[in-house]
Amino acid sequence: MEQRLQKIIAATGYCSRRKAEQLIAAGRVTVNGKIASLGCRTSNGSVIQIDGHPLKPAQSKYYVLLHKPIGVVTSLRDPDGRPLVTDLVKTVPARLFPVGRLDLNTSGLLLLTNDGALANRLAHPRHEIEKTYLVRVRGHLTDEARSTLETGVVLDDGMTSPARVERLRSRGNHSWFEITIHEGRNRQVRRMCETLGFPVSRLTRIRYAFLTLDGLNPGQSRFLKSSEVARLRALGERP
Ligand code: URA
Repeated sequence: MEQRLQKIIAATGYCSRRKAEQLIAAGRVTVNGKIASLGCRTSNGSVIQIDGHPLKPAQSKYYVLLHKPIGVVTSLRDPDGRPLVTDLVKTVPARLFPVGRLDLNTSGLLLLTNDGALANRLAHPRHEIEKTYLVRVRGHLTDEARSTLETGVVLDDGMTSPARVERLRSRGNHSWFEITIHEGRNRQVRRMCETLGFPVSRLTRIRYAFLTLDGLNPGQSRFLKSSEVARLRALGERP
């Protein structure tokens, strides 16, 4: 059965349908050795190349939501032999990699997938995916500090973008609050708080876009539902 070329390309997971259209329009796609034109239809059996490289057939894609515990490294290997996030999803029959990262001492929601195209799109700052963290800091978070967290903190790699802060409680010498940011700089929340004189003593990512940790204890994971994958795809395709 013949299908639109961009649909066949997108179905392999190589890129989105829109991106495939751009590649075709730019003359970067050939079908059976001939440069393809936008709107052309072809069958799954034809030889498709992009920039001279054969298009690889679709591989099953897995999307896992992990509740990362403290003390586990967000990496594919660790020279010090510490436990890895991928050790916690070993039963998945694919090489998964994390979407972004959480520090060793941060717990919470981490996505893992073998869908590189989606992972790259979600991690791109342009898409401004919201992440919410539950934070415990030492000291009593003042109105001024809260307002600075929201408007922007000057870090050594520049001013942070606007954030939302919801104060929860102060008990003893600690304050708890939620902060929602859409950047993903290294140790960002810890550095924002430390800069204002509030060292972080506990940090958990509780939300990523519309996904939450509901029902998952540290170390537990679940596959995303297809409707959740579709929503993530839509977020990663916003212009
Ligand atoms: N901000 C941090 O400081 N650490 C994390 O792990 C995530 C966000």
